Formats: sequence, C-alpha cells, structure tokens
Amino acid sequence: MTRLWYGGDYNPEQWDPAVWKQDVDLMRQAGVNLVTVGVFSWSSLEPSPGQYDFGWLDRILDLLHDGGVSVDLATPTASPPPWFTRLHPEAMPVTPAGVRLTHGSRDTYCVCAPAYREAARGIARALAERYRDHPAPAMWHVHNEYGTTCYCPLAAERFRSWLQERYGSLDRLNEAWTTAFWSQGYADWTDIEPPRQTQYLVNPTQFLDYRRFWSDELLAAFLEQKAELRAQSELPITTNFVFGGWVPVNHARWAEEVDVVAIDHYPDQAGIGAEEQTAFGADLARSWAGGKPWLLMEQAGGTLNDGRRLHPKEPGRMARHSLSHIARGSRGALFFQWRASRGGAEMYHSAMVPHAGADSRIFREVAELGSVLPRLAEVAEGNIVAEVAILWDVECWWAMQGTHLPSSALDYLSAVRSAHRHFWSAGVTVDFAAPDADLSTYRLVVVPSLYVVSDVAAARLAAYVESGGQLVVGYFSGIVDPDLRVRTDGYPGAFADLLGVRVEEFHPLPIDGEIALASGGSGRTWSEDVQAATAEVVDRYAGGVLDGKPAITRRQVGAGTAWYVSTEVDRETMADLLQLPASQVETVEWRSGDTTWTFLINHGDSRAVVPARGIELVTGDPVDGELVVPAGGYAVVRSA
Ligand code: GAL
Repeated sequence: MTRLWYGGDYNPEQWDPAVWKQDVDLMRQAGVNLVTVGVFSWSSLEPSPGQYDFGWLDRILDLLHDGGVSVDLATPTASPPPWFTRLHPEAMPVTPAGVRLTHGSRDTYCVCAPAYREAARGIARALAERYRDHPAPAMWHVHNEYGTTCYCPLAAERFRSWLQERYGSLDRLNEAWTTAFWSQGYADWTDIEPPRQTQYLVNPTQFLDYRRFWSDELLAAFLEQKAELRAQSELPITTNFVFGGWVPVNHARWAEEVDVVAIDHYPDQAGIGAEEQTAFGADLARSWAGGKPWLLMEQAGGTLNDGRRLHPKEPGRMARHSLSHIARGSRGALFFQWRASRGGAEMYHSAMVPHAGADSRIFREVAELGSVLPRLAEVAEGNIVAEVAILWDVECWWAMQGTHLPSSALDYLSAVRSAHRHFWSAGVTVDFAAPDADLSTYRLVVVPSLYVVSDVAAARLAAYVESGGQLVVGYFSGIVDPDLRVRTDGYPGAFADLLGVRVEEFHPLPIDGEIALASGGSGRTWSEDVQAATAEVVDRYAGGVLDGKPAITRRQVGAGTAWYVSTEVDRETMADLLQLPASQVETVEWRSGDTTWTFLINHGDSRAVVPARGIELVTGDPVDGELVVPAGGYAVVRSA
C-alpha cells in the first residue's frame, strides 16, 4: 500500500439508486479512494436462505470502479437477517442471566452455533465467488468489530473443549482455578459452565479463561471466513478491531492472522482527552501490527460522543485526529460513514456527507483533507522511531476486571493510559510491547500495573535491565501468575528481586484520596508498605502510617536500572522521573536513511514555533530554521 486510503463505510442499500451517482461524484470531489461496502448488507444480499440478490451490489461496484474509488468489500456476518432467527433459534445469544436475545439490532448470534458458522461461511463464499475478478475490490473486510459474547449451552460445550485442550486434566484445571475454595472442585468436565450470573463473586480464573476462550473462538470464526475468501482471491484480508472493556479479543494475537490491521476509533471524551485517546489507539494499533500495514478503518467525522451527548468537532479537529493516526502509521483515514442515514439506530451519527448535504462545513473539511493526503503519502518510505515501550497485556486488563481485587480503583487501562499520556504530552513516541517481547531496542520500558505476569516475561524483563535497559515498574505489578495465583513471600512477587523491594501489605487509598511524598509530589489510588531490600530510595511517603517509608526506589542491575513506583504519582513527579518536557505539539518522527519526516500537530490554542529545516509537505514551502504551526494546525516537514 503506497498511497494513503481515504473514505469510509458506504451503505448504498439505504438510498435510492438516484443518490448513488451523486455519491460517486462527491467522493471524487472529496478525494475518496476507498469505501467499505456490504458490512451490514446480509438481508439485502440474501433476502431468503440461499437466494442471493447481487444485482444492486454489481451496479454499485461498477459505479465506484468507474469513478476511481476502490472497495473494501465486507462480509455481512455481524448482522444475520431475521429469517436466520426463525430458522435457527438455538443460534441466538444468551446473556449471563440466561435471557435469550433476538434480532432487531445487530450482532445477535452466538458464534459457537454451528448454524451461524455455516451461514457465515456460505455468504463469504458466495461473495468471493461473485467478486473475485471484479476490479473494484482492493481488500476484503471480514465481519464487523468481532466482540460479542454468549453464555448459551453451545458456548458452554465449546468452552469445555477449549479447557480440556488448555489444561489436559481436571486436576490441573482445579489447581489453576483454585476450586478447593468455596467447594468448586470439578469431577466431571460437563459440570463446568461459562461464568454465568451466580450468587456472589465469580471465580476469577474462570472469568479470565472465558475471555481467553472467547478470543480464540471468535478468531476461529474469522479464520473460516478468511479461508473462504483466500480460496478465491489473493487480495489482502482484514477485519476492523474494536477496543473496549467488553471486547473479548486479544488483538495482539489476532494481528498475526490479518493482512492489514484495521481499527475503529471513537474517543469518548470531548476535551483534550480525545486527542490523547487518539494517539493511544493509534500507537496500540501500530504495535499490534508489528511491521504490517495498519489502517484507521472508522472514526466519526463531525462529532465526539461522550456517551451522553454529541459534541461537534471544532473546525480543524477532524483533520488533526486523522493526521494523528497517519502520523502514527495508519495507511489512511476512513470514517463511519459516508452519508448520514435518514433512519435507523444511528441516524444521528456524523458522516462525511451530513444530513445538511455537501454544502456544509463538514463536507468542505472532508474535501480539504482529501486534497492534502496525497501530498503526505511519501512518508510510507520511512519508519517510525520509538525509543520507549510501554507494556500492554490484554489478559492483565481482563484479569483486573474481576471483582476480587483489593481496591475497586485499580484500573489497568487507566494506568496504561496515564503512562502513555506522560509521553504524549512531551511529544515522545512510544510503542506498546507484549511483556514477553524482545525489548532490546528500547532505551526505556514502562510497566504499568502488570498484575499478571508469567515467569518467562519476568525473566525477559530482568534480562533487559541486566543488559543496560531502564525499566520503570508501576504499583500492583508482578502479583499473580497466569492462573491468577498469588506469588507468595512478598509483593511485587515476580519483580521483587529485580526491583530489590519487598512489600508485605497493600495500602489502597480512598477514592479521590491522596498521599503526600517527601519530594512535594503526591500519589493517588494506591500505596504500599515498601521495604527497600537492595534498592536505593528515591522518594518517600510523608505523613500517615507510611510516613518515611519508600514510595519510589531505584536499583542498579548489571548495566541497567530498575525503578519501582508504588503509587499513582502526579504528573509532575512522573515527568521529572522520566525527564519529560511539556509540549503542546504532538510530534512524531519517521526516518529512512538520511531523510526524516516530522509530523507536528498543534492541539493548543496558541501558535507554536518549532525548529525545522526542509520542505513542509502540506504547503510545499521550504522551511529554513523555524516553522510556525498555527493554533489547531498541523505540518509535515521532510528534512534531508
Ligand atoms: C462502529 C461500528 C459502525 C458504527 C459506528 C458508529 O463501532 O463498526 O458500524 O456503528 O461504530 O459509532
């Protein structure tokens, strides 16, 4: 992929064919070169079982192709038609409380139901056979945002097989799940159920294993469709990842199975948090992708939704969000959706062509960005250089969603986000890395609340420090093994020796409470009674029962240093520790040989003057020493 893709979800079946021609003309005007078609079209494509109606899709693909717009052709399996419910009631999903759902929304099926799997393979095969030689498709898009869970008897059966595979014996499972507690010992595989609604706290490892299982099961369903498409076509195959606490998908693992990593990104904050979230999502996607291409498949054009109401994006903000993704490696910027719907559950979701039509600020901004992107495509010749990694482990996130932790304020995602925010605010690019990844290329590795850690990962981190790495480990790390069994003889368990500390007791802080540090800083959320065994004390708690006890420590290990930060320290303390300056300009650097490309995105409300030399790609103007990036503006400088 050498060009940058620009476009969005296109749902022409919602419109009279008279609008289609106008759509393609407007797409050309806006510089659109890729649209996702067919994502939710199952009932239009297969109005009754085995009866296909491809006529409308033929006409749309021809029109788009004639207009120079490529297609990301989707399988519609995220929303089976009503006839599917009638024929296969057993394939409807069941909630943890045992309620069976029915159609009327979307995503209403159990991926473990054989009837669903067969129907999904069938429609994928029919699409691949019909369009494998059509010139419009540039990519296949399987399904939409895999992520729904079900607790039905069919899912229970699959879960048991998965557990047999993982544990081999009931003895091993009983040990891993600590079933001796509360009389949960299993003597028969068929007694094991999904973590359905029950009387009191659910078994934490059962809960975590259900997530692990569900990720594998959804992946198997994806791979079946992928195989149907691959049998007919060599085009790249993707599926759009959705990120959220409810999503039982291990994206880092799934990324190995797609040709292009695609993400949907909808920040849920209206203030500057939206920009931070944008950078966070983009850095995660790049990290999942490893060296593979990745693409922002969906974002909202005109609005931010904080869950209560829509906030219009101020002029220029849509472009900055798009640029932030591209700066962090996305091979383009796509939206949901092209034209705002007139009806249906998402009729007020923003679109590239809003209800007001093309004579609108939003469409003008869309067209302006479409004209800029081709000038930036050359950055793909380079690579993003990140010298810092933050560890990310989705299983740790899932494990910390259990209801058994010592404080409800412990929140893995916010700990990782806050680590990322420190670097983002300083204009420093970071990668996310798996705990057992090779970290040798990073000068600094940050480990926020890595509650669950395997022996292998702990040994890798120790080796990283030994050979010269700088490691900063955050509170509530190293506590349990992958079965969620506590590592005894003192927290932080797996990291106690490496960090040279021993913690006998946790001191969770009151919600919204603070603890003072001797340096003048403060901590929130959490604190611990830390003994510095072989570590040096860098900062201490001040006041209260922990007065004078270590809060931040440092230990020289081989050629490197391992730090421990036992509370959620304030921004300034962390910025000092990590030696990070403040910057209102989001900066990302790409390099290839002697050439450097620098993305500069100014989220502040005053202009920023940055040192730069070379050519600014948006304007084509030379830059000689200094560049002014206006408030809310952006620039991309190529320097030799
Ligand atoms: C995405 C989804 C789209 C649309 C969009 C609206 O999660 O893939 O189909 O629903 O959200 O926010």
